[in-house]
Amino acid sequence: MNISVIGTGYVGLVVGACLAENGNNVCCADIDERKIKDLRKNILPIYEPGLEPLVERNQKEGRLSFTTSLEDAIKSAEVVFIAVGTPPGEDGAADLKYVLQVATLIGRFMVREMVVVTKSTVPVGSAAKVGAEVAKEAKFPFHLCSNPEFLKEGDAVEDFMRPDRVVLGVESPYARRVMNDVYAPFVRTGKPVLIMDIASAEMTKYAANGMLATRISFMNEIANLCDKMGANVDFVRKGIGSDSRIGQSFLFPGPGYGGSCFPKDVKALIRMGGACGVPLDVLSAVESANDRQKRVLVEKVRIALGKDLKGKRIALWGLAFKAGTDDMREAASLTLIATLLDEGVSICAHDPAAADHARALLGNRIDYAETNYEALSGADALVVVTDWNEYRHPDFERVKRALRQPVIVDGRNLYDVEKMRELGIRYHSIGRPSA
Ligand SMILES: NC(=O)c1ccc[n+]([C@@H]2O[C@H](COP(=O)([O-])OP(=O)(O)OC[C@H]3O[C@@H](n4cnc5c(N)ncnc54)[C@H](O)[C@@H]3O)[C@@H](O)[C@H]2O)c1
Repeated sequence: MNISVIGTGYVGLVVGACLAENGNNVCCADIDERKIKDLRKNILPIYEPGLEPLVERNQKEGRLSFTTSLEDAIKSAEVVFIAVGTPPGEDGAADLKYVLQVATLIGRFMVREMVVVTKSTVPVGSAAKVGAEVAKEAKFPFHLCSNPEFLKEGDAVEDFMRPDRVVLGVESPYARRVMNDVYAPFVRTGKPVLIMDIASAEMTKYAANGMLATRISFMNEIANLCDKMGANVDFVRKGIGSDSRIGQSFLFPGPGYGGSCFPKDVKALIRMGGACGVPLDVLSAVESANDRQKRVLVEKVRIALGKDLKGKRIALWGLAFKAGTDDMREAASLTLIATLLDEGVSICAHDPAAADHARALLGNRIDYAETNYEALSGADALVVVTDWNEYRHPDFERVKRALRQPVIVDGRNLYDVEKMRELGIRYHSIGRPSA
């Protein structure tokens, strides 16, 4: 099938490469000329495990191409995916500006009957707006589809290739048939393709992210309570997670959720509720609990080093909002760094993937280390912010030797409290006893 994907960010690039890998002819378009120039040379704008070989192979074999001409991309397609950003506007609602710009061009340049798929996360009712934009100049019939994306950065290729489910909001048998066809290779193991109306598909995406964010904020609050009351959240997590009604996933406390999706989607959902007179009190609380949680690591650093942090040096492991990605949007590290810098702390940070993005955001306000051990040199404490695999089993004797004093503040509960005690490390984590 001839497919075009508009927007080659975290979502669009993964979608385009995976569709090409399954034999489709895919044209990916973006207005960012530099991105497209680099992609043509197989230089990826993002860090996403497993993506580079897919881009390289499919480009080489002629199934994947990149262009800045949306006109060419639209003209060549039977199915066009809109995968541009939907950042929050000033009022918290998702900004549809880019989506609608693309919809206008689809109407202008289409040369045959086609399916117009919204892959971007958009509020309920957006498909109608997309349809109205396309219709303004369309000379051929078109069929709308809302196909929200559930991939996780860091596992995006795997998630797209083997999804738990595919959600398709359609309103015509044509769109249903074509989209079933597009996704058939990805659900051969029997995972469901859930066909529904468009509004429900749009809502499903927000409800999924709202639920996941709720679990995180809930567990963060339980962990904070454990801290105060002498309980250990590790036991509590396992104790509740083994209940099949609850399950084990998304119960790990941490320094607050970040990334490009949860913060903006929770905001947009609250805004949607407000706009139609349905207060979403649970989600409002989820959001304020998360804002509070982003300050928890600073409080832990104060517990470890004393109230006055002026002149201290901190080694920071992890800048990305989570492991497996270079994405720094709304990362907990940014809140921590801003507060520590304000208090006169100097920082040396390491991240295996996000250092370049951090440099673009923070410049030389902090130092950057080539290795995680190098970051420790002369620091008063190590703060672990992101749960990269390489931080899970460090050489603790080396860590102790490099630090000025053996202090670790662990925002991801990576280390065993008892082991830290035995090693003589002063250790503070989230919702567990200190050592
Ligand atoms: N990142 C995720 O993990 C994830 C997961 C699921 C859904 N989503 C949703 O998918 C959408 C895209 O997210 P992302 O993280 O890939 O965003 P991104 O910011 O990484 O990429 C968006 C891309 O769209 C391009 N673009 C903007 N306007 C354009 C236009 N008019 N024409 C062509 N290209 C244009 C930008 O240059 C950029 O390359 C958002 O709605 C997001 O909420 C993201």
